[in-house]
Amino acid sequence: MIRINEHFTKLKASYLFADIAKRVNAYVAANPDKPVIRLGIGDVTEPLPPVCIAALHAATEEMAHRATFKGYGPEQGYAFLREAIAQHDFKALGAHVEPDEVFISDGSKCDVANIQEIFAADTRLAIPDPVYPVYVDTNVMAGRTGANADGRYTGITYLDSTAANGYVPAPPATPADLIYLCFPNNPTGAVATRAQLAAWVAYARKNNAIILYDAAYESYVRTPGIPRSIYEIEGARDVAIEFRSYSKLAGFTGLRCAYTVVPKNLKARDASGAEHAVHALWNRRHTTKFNGVSYPVQKAAAAIYTPAGQAQTRGLTDFYLGNAKLIREAVTKLGLTCIGGDNAPYLWVNTGRDSWEFFDLLLNQAQVVTTPGAGFGKCGEGHVRISAFNSRENVTLALARIAAALK
Ligand code: MLT
Repeated sequence: MIRINEHFTKLKASYLFADIAKRVNAYVAANPDKPVIRLGIGDVTEPLPPVCIAALHAATEEMAHRATFKGYGPEQGYAFLREAIAQHDFKALGAHVEPDEVFISDGSKCDVANIQEIFAADTRLAIPDPVYPVYVDTNVMAGRTGANADGRYTGITYLDSTAANGYVPAPPATPADLIYLCFPNNPTGAVATRAQLAAWVAYARKNNAIILYDAAYESYVRTPGIPRSIYEIEGARDVAIEFRSYSKLAGFTGLRCAYTVVPKNLKARDASGAEHAVHALWNRRHTTKFNGVSYPVQKAAAAIYTPAGQAQTRGLTDFYLGNAKLIREAVTKLGLTCIGGDNAPYLWVNTGRDSWEFFDLLLNQAQVVTTPGAGFGKCGEGHVRISAFNSRENVTLALARIAAALK
């Protein structure tokens, strides 16, 4: 009989957010009269910006006529979007990215999951804890780890992110080849300073390593001087790949559009020591396995870069940050400590008790869904993540219910 990829059997039975959804659905089925408020998975609630809606309508109209109809587009994305990205997301920050270094995709989750395919099976990994589970799970599937023992896989250098280091881990003493970093951080909401990122770039340069920099939440940075891109750090183009998404910036979680930057000077070696351009490998992978994001969706993404689009998306992120501020104030008033929420849509709350127990308490007593910290890794124990993605009305109601439940 055909055999399975046995690395899959090392994984926890289900993906974190699928596990939570199952618990929440069971609660809802058993308690149909108690509506729940979801501050768990980071899914946006507010409608798309008007500029994106107008662009979608116009592009759909183009698809309706032979003269303007579009079939397959370039797998890497249309030039109009790649050029707008290079100009507005990087040049405006003083960072250098060429349009043809940008690969448009249907989501950062897929990109950050797929990128490991182009690196060797014995690549040494450094991964933060707590962490977005996709980084770890995709490497487990690829066979880069041993078994899970006591909540951690052997073969990974875990980078503890705790109160002691302000939830921003420093480079380890041992060498690693592939480093996952995410700032503003999911799940903690912590941000890294220029000096902290510069230390990582120096480490990667010294070890001929590559940093996978997940910047999906960069549009929430408000503190002046906090980098929004790893390419703001000198020398990063030689050692870093960056992931960006329109999901949390413009409400594209249901529309799907993101991009990955792979600088052309980024190199990795084969077993003989010969150097290869990572850009060429990713291009080969992308063109073989992906057929491009739809034209109307790319037009909607490009509309974000117009002055009206910039104002409307800023309005959206300001709105969610307003929710985050309310959550932080309410949680602090309850005597709980937390971080995040000022440059990120997530708050990382110290529960002082088992994180799944706290999750269950809030679900059962307040009908509020959060994400238990233990689901993000061993260092997440004793925390829950509260997402600011919901309507103001729901956030206000959820906070009143949490206060009543914890009284
Ligand atoms: C999260 O809740 O961590 C994110 O929404 C997950 C994602 O973006 O895939």
